[in-house]
Amino acid sequence: MRIGILGSGSGSNMQAILDAIGAGTLDAEIALVLSDVPGAYILQRAENHGIPARLIDCRGFKTRFPEEAQQETADALKAAGCDLVCLAGFMRLVKQPLLDAFPDRILNIHPALLPAFPGVAAWKQAVEAGATESGCTVHYVDAGMDTGPVILQAKVPVLPDDTPESLHARIQVEEHRLYPEAIRLLQSERRL
Ligand code: GAR
Repeated sequence: MRIGILGSGSGSNMQAILDAIGAGTLDAEIALVLSDVPGAYILQRAENHGIPARLIDCRGFKTRFPEEAQQETADALKAAGCDLVCLAGFMRLVKQPLLDAFPDRILNIHPALLPAFPGVAAWKQAVEAGATESGCTVHYVDAGMDTGPVILQAKVPVLPDDTPESLHARIQVEEHRLYPEAIRLLQSERRL
């Protein structure tokens, strides 16, 4: 299975997938890494591992993922022979035509127990809401914001003295375990 990764940040979730592949616990290959953020560390990580990586040009669009850029992304993923697309800290909403190019083949990891706290900085939302529990979710991507069918979730406690940063760090430990596990689950159930 050839995975294409889309990310806007440090790429620690991509690293977790790479580590699982390296450890022989996930039968896959990361074929292409794309980022909408110039200089994002995820691009550097990809280069460090000899994985083709490049920027998606979203200049002029602060948050939106323009249709031309989605088409360019879909074309690049297809050209790299990707069968699965994993969003790993990708901060733009995927819509048509990218969704149509990979039906039921785009996954996302979100740092909360969806449907709770969709959107940005979910760890901060959880602390500010006074939640006593949060976690992370791997789900299929649909046209909504963090609304697609859930594949797996992992819970973590929110402690009384948590800051958004300390909660995010606890969630990320679970994310790094959960993302490879979710891909493995889909493979074993022949859903990929
Ligand atoms: C992760 O916590 C991921 O769940 C979150 O961004 C972080 C990226 O970290 N994604 C979202 O909030 C998407 N709505 P990483 O770049 O180190 O994998």
